[in-house]
Amino acid sequence: MIAPIVRTLADLRVQTAIWRNAGETIGVVPTMGALHQGHLSLARAAREKCDRVIVTIFVNPKQFNDPDDLKNYPRTEDEDARKLESIGVDLIYVPEPEQIYPDGFATTVSVAGLTDMLCGESRPGHFDGVATVVSKLFLQTSADFAFFGEKDYQQLQIVRRMAADLDIPIAVIGCPTIREEDGLAMSSRNLLLSDRSRVYAPVLAEVMEDMRQKLADGAAMAEIAPEAEARILAAGFNTIDYLELRSGRDLSLLDKAEPDARLFAAAWLAGVRLIDNIAV
Ligand code: PAJ
Repeated sequence: MIAPIVRTLADLRVQTAIWRNAGETIGVVPTMGALHQGHLSLARAAREKCDRVIVTIFVNPKQFNDPDDLKNYPRTEDEDARKLESIGVDLIYVPEPEQIYPDGFATTVSVAGLTDMLCGESRPGHFDGVATVVSKLFLQTSADFAFFGEKDYQQLQIVRRMAADLDIPIAVIGCPTIREEDGLAMSSRNLLLSDRSRVYAPVLAEVMEDMRQKLADGAAMAEIAPEAEARILAAGFNTIDYLELRSGRDLSLLDKAEPDARLFAAAWLAGVRLIDNIAV
C-alpha cells in the first residue's frame, strides 16, 4: 500500500499523537526526495528499529546557495511514494513550504565549529539551513529515532551536535553509504550528470580508495594528495573543493591515518558537485 502523504503539520500531529498515545516508537528519515537506494536503506533501517516510520520529503530552500541548483533539483514525488511502498513506511510527510517557513519566520539554528570546514567553507550558510530544517522536522514529527547517511558525514555530525545541544529527545543513527556497482556514491545529484560525465564520476571514489590504502600503509596526505588531485582533474573534474583527511569525531584536520580518520572529498564535474567520504 502506498503510504498516506501528509502535507500539513496539523495533519501530521493528529497521526503522531495516536501513535504516541499507543506507546509506539517513531522513526524519521529526512530527505529532499528523488529517492534512490541510499535513501531506501535508511527507510529500511528505520522500519527494522521503529514501530512507525515517517519519511519526509522537502527540498529545503534555505540550504541551497545557488538559485539554479534549487531550481534544477530533481523532484519525483509519485515515483518516490512508489519506491517507499515495498518498504512499508507508515507516512510520507511532504510539507508545503509555509508549513516549515510560515510568514514572519525568523529563527536560524546555527552549529558553531563543525560547520566551518569542508562543505561549510565552500557552501556558506548551507549547514545553517540544514540544522534549521532538521531541528524543525525533529520537533514536528516528535520522532524517537532519526536516520541519516554517512554519505553526508559532516551533516550527520552537525545534526548529532544540534540535537544534543537543543535537548531534542531523539537518537540520531548513522547508516553506511550505498554505492553504485562502479563505486560512485549514490546521490540524487547523479541524475544531473550527462552520460559522458557519469562515465568519469566513479574516478573520485577510485582515487579515494587508492589513497585509503596508502594512508593505511603509513603515507602522509602531504605526499599523496597532489598526485590524487591531478588524477581527479585528469578524469574531467573541473574543480576540487577539498580532498582532506580528518578525524571522524571532531572533523579536525589530520596528515596521517589514526583511529577514526576519514577521507573527505568534494569536486565539480560538468556543473555537478559530488561529495564522498570513507573511513581510513
Ligand atoms: P538528501 O540529500 O535527500 O539525503 C537524505 C538522507 O539520505 C541523508 O541522511 C543522506 O546522508 C542520505 N543519503 C544520501 N545518499 C546516500 C547514500 N548513497 N547512502 C546512504 N545514505 C545516503 O541530506 C539531505 O537530503 C538534506 O540535507 C536533509 C537532511 C533532508 C535536510 O534538508
